[in-house]
Amino acid sequence: MSDARPARYRVDPGGSVAGELTVPGDKSISHRALMLGAIADGTTDITGFLAGEDCLATARALDALGVRIEGVGGPRVRVRGVGRAGLRGAAAPLDLGNAGTAMRLMMGLLAPQRFASILVGDSSLMRRPMERVAVPLRLMGARIVTQDGRPPVRIEGSAGLRAIDYELPVASAQVKSAILLAALGADGRTRITEPAASRDHTERMLSAFGVELLREGRTVALQGGQSLRATQVAVPADFSSAAFFIVAGCLAAIEPLLIKNVGVNPTRTGLIELLRRMGADIRVHPRAPAGQAGEPVADIEVRASALRGITVPEELVPLAIDEFPVFFIAAACADGETVVRGAHELRVKESDRLAATAAGLEVLGIEHQLHPDGLWLRGKERLGGGLIDSRGDHRIAMAFAIASLRASAPIEIDAVGNVATSFPGFLNTARVAGLRIREL
Ligand code: S3P
Repeated sequence: MSDARPARYRVDPGGSVAGELTVPGDKSISHRALMLGAIADGTTDITGFLAGEDCLATARALDALGVRIEGVGGPRVRVRGVGRAGLRGAAAPLDLGNAGTAMRLMMGLLAPQRFASILVGDSSLMRRPMERVAVPLRLMGARIVTQDGRPPVRIEGSAGLRAIDYELPVASAQVKSAILLAALGADGRTRITEPAASRDHTERMLSAFGVELLREGRTVALQGGQSLRATQVAVPADFSSAAFFIVAGCLAAIEPLLIKNVGVNPTRTGLIELLRRMGADIRVHPRAPAGQAGEPVADIEVRASALRGITVPEELVPLAIDEFPVFFIAAACADGETVVRGAHELRVKESDRLAATAAGLEVLGIEHQLHPDGLWLRGKERLGGGLIDSRGDHRIAMAFAIASLRASAPIEIDAVGNVATSFPGFLNTARVAGLRIREL
């Protein structure tokens, strides 16, 4: 349950970005490739795996559950699947570090098992809501105990789960995925309906592992008892990591900036739509057509342009959910007002991202107003500088580093140790792109 060390970034103001970049593999897809590979029959080979702290936590947990995984320190990983009934109880609590996706999906994976498990994490994860997953799993017959809705999560051994028909109260891919994983081991046909589209990597990857599921509008249905056939998963670069450089390009790519081999699943790319509405020049060049575990991939080319503030349509919020920290930086540099509402979920991410962003905008001298479910702000030609508290949140830290491109004084960012959870090598990639960043 240890927390990452609190290193600091210093970013000197100004500069431009250009050239070609690659960013690390997709975090959501890497977690899923490990978990589905673990319960598949046969050996799954993963390429492009994200060897970041979050996915390493998933790999360690699966190892403790008796799954052999080779090569997790790098991009090529081999998972020796044990089949749906082959996991065995771990001797100690499973520590999932900072990884909310790992904990929530693991709840679904473990709910149908006959043995008991305990899930814990770092101080951020121990504060995050878990009842949203526990509630539907209990309806399926799972016995799950949380502590006032938060971890530690105790999953008692199950005597058999039954299918449910469930309407998600919030658009959450983690909750949907946990139910789908539990549904594999449940009796009958589970149906899940979402209030709005959330990322669909689990559905796509289950299909790639030979599982039949039916999708109709916002509903997905899966018959329990199906087994998974090991396969090969090529993980594209993480759109959410590319997002920092897409915004950097909008702000400061006088020459084009090209980010290569990025996953452009339409349930992830809401940021492109939002930035285009602000006047951004973003070109998406598709690569191999929908090949890699059903995930579309593209090179993304960005040029600087004058941005205008917008009102964000609420239905786009789940499609850009992890990109709001850096979207707010784009908005802070845009001409006019930007409003985001219907984004209460941002309050329960790795940090309260609305509060963390508002506090950072205050430091940079951006007029803003915090709402319970969003943020209003008025952009400025030049931002100030100062010390930003990232609250140990990787995406807050990286977003404020990008703000330096339009700052008039150095920006220092505190508690950046968790950047390695999703983007190992960020410092180097940012330097190559043109940021004047270093670690203190
Ligand atoms: C994720 C789903 C999203 C996202 C998170 C990753 C996933 O969370 O914010 O970073 O991999 O399923 P929610 O399901 O809570 O919206």
